[in-house]
Amino acid sequence: MNVTNGQFWEELHAGRQAPAVPPRPNDALVDLILASGLAPGRALDLGAGSGGDALWLASLGWQVTAVDISLTAADRIQKLADAEGLAKNLTAIQLDLSRTQPSGTFDLVYACYLHTPVNIGRGGILHRAADLMGVGGTLVVVDHASTAPWSWAHRDTRYPTPEQTYATFDLGDDWEPSLLAARERVATGPNGETATVTDNLIVSRRVREQPFSARAERESHDRRLSRGIS
Ligand SMILES: C[S@@+](CC[C@H](N)C(=O)[O-])C[C@H]1O[C@@H](n2cnc3c(N)ncnc32)[C@H](O)[C@@H]1O
Repeated sequence: MNVTNGQFWEELHAGRQAPAVPPRPNDALVDLILASGLAPGRALDLGAGSGGDALWLASLGWQVTAVDISLTAADRIQKLADAEGLAKNLTAIQLDLSRTQPSGTFDLVYACYLHTPVNIGRGGILHRAADLMGVGGTLVVVDHASTAPWSWAHRDTRYPTPEQTYATFDLGDDWEPSLLAARERVATGPNGETATVTDNLIVSRRVREQPFSARAERESHDRRLSRGIS
């Protein structure tokens, strides 16, 4: 790819028409949130795109931080939130999650279809974002597990299982997954065409938190490892 990940997504979002009304939230996320029985709290949306999920959660009373690498996407979400009277519940931020992450603490962190044409170190992004939650925090990840005919992904893309993806988050025994499953759904493409596709669904809950000293030791170990020092 000759363009950076940021340029790819900015061009893609800028090339689409700005939605006049909030886009539909992802069915899979709606199902998982409603089934979880979670009460509204603070939520972080990783790669919010056109904002359907973030706006839906904000309309339910969640305090949502919606993050996207594309400034156009973040601006459009904020404008929709203003227009819908949801600005007090939603903050949209342009930010590259492979370089930095939002500040704050959260009760729910979710990523729906956070897939990119280049490797952005997604496992590390999910690990760091999960670390923004304390005990009781819930991580929800909805991934593609097959290629829709209209997708930019290659037809021969091989998809990991939910278990393999979850392992890349390296959450350790502070976390207990309650759902690692593949599920089919009928998806609608940009021109109204439909196809049956498969999603991988991951839900995990933080059940304990290492004391600060143990976490600091582990983070220092991770940093040394990434620099090649054992
Ligand atoms: C496939 S889209 C999914 C959008 C939305 N979550 C949905 O379900 O429709 C992936 C989104 O992640 C964003 N993204 C890609 N890389 C990112 C990064 N490094 N940091 C933040 N957002 C990123 C893209 O701009 C895009 O909006």
